[in-house]
Amino acid sequence: MLKGKTAIVTGGTRGIGFAIVKKYLENGANVAIAGSRQESVEKALAKLPEYEGRIMGIWPDICSQEEVAEAFASVKEKFGSVDILANNAGLSSRTSIYEYTLEEFTKIMDVNVKAVFVCSQAAARIMKEQGGGAIINTSSMVGEYGQPSGCAYPTSKFAVNGLTKSLARELAKDKIRVNAVAPGVTRTDMLSALPQEMVDRISAGIPLGRVGEPLDIANAYLFLASELSSYVTGITLRVDGAAMT
Ligand SMILES: NC(=O)c1ccc[n+]([C@@H]2O[C@H](COP(=O)([O-])OP(=O)(O)OC[C@H]3O[C@@H](n4cnc5c(N)ncnc54)[C@H](O)[C@@H]3O)[C@@H](O)[C@H]2O)c1
Repeated sequence: MLKGKTAIVTGGTRGIGFAIVKKYLENGANVAIAGSRQESVEKALAKLPEYEGRIMGIWPDICSQEEVAEAFASVKEKFGSVDILANNAGLSSRTSIYEYTLEEFTKIMDVNVKAVFVCSQAAARIMKEQGGGAIINTSSMVGEYGQPSGCAYPTSKFAVNGLTKSLARELAKDKIRVNAVAPGVTRTDMLSALPQEMVDRISAGIPLGRVGEPLDIANAYLFLASELSSYVTGITLRVDGAAMT
C-alpha cells in the first residue's frame, strides 16, 4: 500500500511508534526512525535487519527548526522524497495542578505540540515541492474528555486536534492531507508494567472489552497514510474501543 513512498516516524523507537515503523515497512515504504537519542535509534534499527537499505535513523531535537529541517533534508537525500510524516513522539503526565512546575508544563507542551508544528512545517515544505503528502498527528482520547490530573497532557492533545484541523485546511491546496489518530489505552511499556488485574479492570470498562494493541493503532496510521484515505483530511480518528473516559 505504500510502495515507493518514504515516511518519517517521530518517537519511532518503541511503543506505538515502533509498530507504525514496522507496519509502514511491511507495506513497502522506506522509513526514517526519528528518536531523541542516537543510541535508542540504533537499537531500534538493529531489530529490523531484514529491511536494511529501506530504513535509516535520525535524532534531531524535534523542537528545533534548524535541526529538524536538516534531518528531514537528509531523508529526502537518501530516499528521494518525504511523503508521510507520523508525528507520534509524545510525553504524558499525571502531575496535580498543585504540584506542577512551569518547566514540566512547558516540556509536555513542547514535545506534544511545538514539535508537531516544527516537524509538520519541515515536512510540508518538502511535500509542497513534491506535489503532496500525508501528515498524521497523535492525539489521545483524553484530547476529547480531559483527565483528572496531569492537565498539560490533555491540553496538549486538544492543541494537536486544533493544529490538525487548521493545517488540513491550510495545506489542502498543496495536496497535503493532515489527520490525527486518537488512541485509547494502549498496551505499551507503561501499561505492561501494571499488574494484570489492573489491566483487566481497565479492559472491563472499555465496550470492546480489551485495551488497544500498538498494532490496532498502527493500522489506523496505515489507512491515513495510504491512498485508501485519499479524500480524508482534517479528522481525528478515534481508535479506542469506544472508551468513554
Ligand atoms: N499508550 C497509550 O495508551 C496512548 C494513548 C493515547 C495516546 N498515546 C500517544 O501515542 C504516542 C506514543 O505513545 P507510546 O504509548 O508509544 O509512548 P512511549 O513512551 O512508549 O513512546 C513515546 C515515544 O516518544 C519519544 N519521545 C518522547 N520525548 C521525545 C523527545 N523530546 N524527542 C523525541 N522523541 C521523544 C520517545 O523516545 C518514544 O519513542 C504519544 O504521542 C502518546 O501521547 C498513547
